[in-house]
Amino acid sequence: MPITTIIEPFRIKSVEPIRCTSRMQREQLLRRAHYNLFMLPSEDVLIDLLTDSGTGAMSTEQWAAIMRGDESYAGSPSFTRFRSSVQEIFGYKHVIPTHQGRAAERILFGTVCKKGDIVPNNTHFDTTRANIEFVGAEAVDLPIAEVQQPSKPHPFKGNMDVGALQQLIARVGKERIPLVMLTITNNSGGGQPVSMENARAVSTVCRTHGIPFYFDACRFAENAYFIKLREPGYQDKTPKQIAQEMFNLGDGCTMSAKKDGMANIGGFLCTNDDVLAQQEKDLLILTEGYPTYGGLAGRDLEAIAVGLQEALDEDYLKYRAASTAYLGNHISERGVPIVQPPGGHAIYLDARTFLPHVPPEQFPGVALANELYLEGGIRSVEIGTLMFAKAARMDLVRLAIPRRVYTQSHIDYVVEVILEVWEHREQIGGLKLVSEAPFLRHFTAQLEPLRTSRA
Ligand code: F0G
Repeated sequence: MPITTIIEPFRIKSVEPIRCTSRMQREQLLRRAHYNLFMLPSEDVLIDLLTDSGTGAMSTEQWAAIMRGDESYAGSPSFTRFRSSVQEIFGYKHVIPTHQGRAAERILFGTVCKKGDIVPNNTHFDTTRANIEFVGAEAVDLPIAEVQQPSKPHPFKGNMDVGALQQLIARVGKERIPLVMLTITNNSGGGQPVSMENARAVSTVCRTHGIPFYFDACRFAENAYFIKLREPGYQDKTPKQIAQEMFNLGDGCTMSAKKDGMANIGGFLCTNDDVLAQQEKDLLILTEGYPTYGGLAGRDLEAIAVGLQEALDEDYLKYRAASTAYLGNHISERGVPIVQPPGGHAIYLDARTFLPHVPPEQFPGVALANELYLEGGIRSVEIGTLMFAKAARMDLVRLAIPRRVYTQSHIDYVVEVILEVWEHREQIGGLKLVSEAPFLRHFTAQLEPLRTSRA
């Protein structure tokens, strides 16, 4: 019999203890955090699935590269290695390092966007939307219709509705659209991949109208692996070849290296446009740093240079997709409603279906995320009415899996906790908002339960 068990393709050289707390302690801790999991000290979290961003474990090769980091202010060889690694995969002419993804977004939208403009995307991530709105432009989400049905599987649920894009261009005119963006994978829409066919169709529309086409490339390696698994014609290509083919359809990208850069910090902005690159570098110097480090240390550039290549390793991607699906499949087979199919970096619980008695204005996603913490010390994040207010199409709870961090027994524990919460779901109540910031309110909002969560 062939061996079919998929294992973690690494062994552990350094460990970090995690601490159990009692339910009573967690009740107090949550009250002190104003019922907002962002405000919990991380030592009081047992399994932290808040984000897969910057939370991954680095490899021995990355740590070795860190020691090679050259901290020269200008012209560091660490930048040269970083740029070569990025260019080999992404292929764009200008590579501008930033301290993380949103800094790349701010510089891009601060340069190309003005008041009254419209930026279409399959689904904007919260920081992308906020950076567009901050310059007075409008962020428009154009996901395919299947996204509205969380339980319905689709191989490329991250796709953009190309017909809707064409209609938008016809309606508002290409002059008001400084660029079109495609987020791979589509994080806010459930961590779902975008097909090569869809990216090609979006690229064709953009080229026809002379509109620049950008990728929000945070999870490009996971997206490439789903194409290899699911899209005809890509089975025999490597994830790197697939990524290269995809980026070749665009004119540039923003990237958070905290995801598929396998680093704890960092990002970059790429473009093929010489004039734009100059304007972006001018802005970079003002707020991030000189263009050969852009807000990062030389050692961070080295870690990203190695990490981008490791993220495309097939053994790693096979384990990554399998471990995420393991969590999703084990809870959905017991009836827990999740966004189907399982995404690349996360499982999304459908909180509106999980808690049908909690209306969206009582934040069912927050209620469910808080209960997972109370039950088992698990931290997750709401992606719904608290994050997007009226723009929320769904109320989801994301369980994001940090890269190379947790083992299968950790995930088995998470499964058990979710199933326990599922059993007593009828006793979980909603919350009300007590205070909120004018934008990105979910990070600091304070809430209060409408009634005690457990009878
Ligand atoms: N775009 C997407 C699709 C993202 O998921 C993120 C970050 C960003 C842009 C911004 O990058 O954090 O480096 O500034 N997502 C994290 C998350 C925070 O938890 O999903 P950043």
